[in-house]
Amino acid sequence: MKPLIIVTDSVFPSLDPAIAALARLDPEMRMAKSASAEDILAVARDADAILVTYAKMTGDLLRQLTRCKAIGRFGIGVDNIDLPAAAEMGITVTYVPDYCVCEVSDHAMALLLSLARKIPFSNKLVQSGRWEMPAVVPIHRLDGRVLGLVGFGNIPRRLAPKAQAFGMRVVTHDPYLSADVLKAAGVEAVDFDRLLAISDFVSIHVPLTPATRGLFNAQTFAKMKAGALLVNTARGPLIDEPALVAALKAGQIGGAALDVVATEPLPKNSPLIGHDDIILSPHTAFYSEEALVELQTKCASDVARVLSGEPPVYPVTMK
Ligand SMILES: NC(=O)c1ccc[n+]([C@@H]2O[C@H](COP(=O)([O-])OP(=O)(O)OC[C@H]3O[C@@H](n4cnc5c(N)ncnc54)[C@H](O)[C@@H]3O)[C@@H](O)[C@H]2O)c1
Repeated sequence: MKPLIIVTDSVFPSLDPAIAALARLDPEMRMAKSASAEDILAVARDADAILVTYAKMTGDLLRQLTRCKAIGRFGIGVDNIDLPAAAEMGITVTYVPDYCVCEVSDHAMALLLSLARKIPFSNKLVQSGRWEMPAVVPIHRLDGRVLGLVGFGNIPRRLAPKAQAFGMRVVTHDPYLSADVLKAAGVEAVDFDRLLAISDFVSIHVPLTPATRGLFNAQTFAKMKAGALLVNTARGPLIDEPALVAALKAGQIGGAALDVVATEPLPKNSPLIGHDDIILSPHTAFYSEEALVELQTKCASDVARVLSGEPPVYPVTMK
């Protein structure tokens, strides 16, 4: 019997790289009508494996799967999958931790530069016929400024040398790091409060977990250097958005550039819309044509490995 592989949801223009990587199994592939639990279960209840992008794989859903052996997450974050429930069901969860570290670190640097040089605001001025310098005042020199990286995993490790090339001093807070990693990167370890106090730019790179949800809230913003600029390419719910808007309005922080927001897609009436000191991109930090091929190929190849009884290259292990 052909293995049945379900795709719950996809943001990709095509799934050809995934289909090519699964070809050796000669599978039957089906796509869920929508990412709702009901539509996923309608096709996935008896599936051998599932490929998921953003759909919520709750414990309740996972416990209704009768023969699923593998869930491949098209991405890095696995916060949409109930990992303890998957372990309980004997399902191997795989992800792709390294497919877009170039892209996300570039995107974080691009957001940082856009904030620092006020490029989107300047563009808006000029496009509306205003060729003015006073409107963009003040802009500060980047060289010598402090960048605080919250979390020092794969992405910020790629971002650090990019920021250092602009003359920035890079500090980080990551409680699970070895001193060797930091020394090699020329990055200084500081505690979280110190990072907030000294950083001109703060870039967030921690996973979304119960412990990190709302990590940036009214208290955190109050501890940040006045006028500091915030970049988030990690996960939206790491920031308390009403508190962010209040901190910006109060001038407590100077601006924010967000690739991820608490509710995606961003609601049309979101309080984040319409501010010159907020830059938004639609969760595209991971994207390049090359990254998509790598992502789908690695994710689907691991699912093929699990279904063939081979060990996956990128299993998710619970910490
Ligand atoms: N915007 C996008 O398109 C996009 C793409 C890929 C990844 N991401 C997100 O980027 C984030 C970082 O990715 P990565 O590949 O660098 O992750 P990673 O798994 O390599 O590293 C995460 C790091 O965070 C540290 N950490 C955990 N809890 C912490 C805490 N409370 N304080 C400080 N550090 C903590 C861990 O020790 C680890 O070093 C993830 O949240 C991921 O979901 C977003």
